[in-house]
Amino acid sequence: MQTPVATFSQPEIAQFRRALLSWFERHKRDLPWRRTRDPYAIWISEIMLQQTRVAAVIPFYQRFLARFPDIATLADAPEEDLLAHWAGLGYYHRARNLQKAAQHMRARDSFPHSHDEIRQLPGIGEYTSAAVASIAFDLPHAAVDGNVLRVLSRVRADPVDTASAKGRKHFARVADALLDTKQPGPFNQAMMELGATICLPKNPQCLLCPVSGVCRARQSGRENEFPVKLVSRKAVTEHRRLLWIERDGSILLWQRPAGARLMPGFWELPEREQLPEAVLSDKVGEFRHAITYHDYRCEVYRAEAPVDCAECRWTPLHTLPALPLSTLVRKARRLAGQPAKQAAGASRNSR
Ligand code: ADE
Repeated sequence: MQTPVATFSQPEIAQFRRALLSWFERHKRDLPWRRTRDPYAIWISEIMLQQTRVAAVIPFYQRFLARFPDIATLADAPEEDLLAHWAGLGYYHRARNLQKAAQHMRARDSFPHSHDEIRQLPGIGEYTSAAVASIAFDLPHAAVDGNVLRVLSRVRADPVDTASAKGRKHFARVADALLDTKQPGPFNQAMMELGATICLPKNPQCLLCPVSGVCRARQSGRENEFPVKLVSRKAVTEHRRLLWIERDGSILLWQRPAGARLMPGFWELPEREQLPEAVLSDKVGEFRHAITYHDYRCEVYRAEAPVDCAECRWTPLHTLPALPLSTLVRKARRLAGQPAKQAAGASRNSR
């Protein structure tokens, strides 16, 4: 039989909010998007943070805002320039959706001020609309990402599956009940911060936790039993051999078609299967790259191509910094001793 979930009394909820918010005020990290109330900048940060770690986002956020400081500049940006500023963050549909949303905002002449309008923008789901609405406009919407789910699951010692759609709806209701509607922006950020820095997936730092006094999992010594996640998919390992073929200061690359489902317009290195006649020489190195449930093990070889590959182009090496290169190319480029313009592999999940 499942243990019933104890609900919090109103005084406990009040204590939870007070303890969380005062801890956040004292311990919050100084992050660049916390120094602004500009909805445009907050929106950019939340889109970048959707699938990428905070530390990896910071340099991208700063570079992106320096190049595209407002809605109009982003709406008018050439696609190659936009993608080159996103390269390294992965999930490039996010950059394309940003531009579509910016074009929509320019047409209506402002950033939308209501939660429902923000939710309608391309690339914005429940979590991001709540985060932007609460942080930029103080609107009372609870933002529930993976970190927040973990906190909620533990404080309630809640056996509901956090990986199912039904479970996420359940935790959205729980989050609404806990939200401090007088300070929704700080409250949401405090919940994210607690999940990111204290209520860690492994080895939660309960001794440092401001809400351990009301945490049901902690009280019963079961913090490692939550969150419950029933859906899981095993990673599939794939071995790939990438060819680094240089001639007269140029390199052989191919471009994904504009209509490709994944990363349209991005440049890739040819692989062994595409160029069976290529003569491999030394191995440059190897790296791993994880994306959703794929675990790519990539080996990079210097090679010569006796016959040109029809879909490839000789691309001058000095033009690479301005091109949208896939993360595989950027990682290979570092191995090959080519200077990288941007830190590669910002997110575990970037392509
Ligand atoms: N993750 C998602 N949104 C965030 C934010 N505003 N601050 C820190 N981490 C986040």
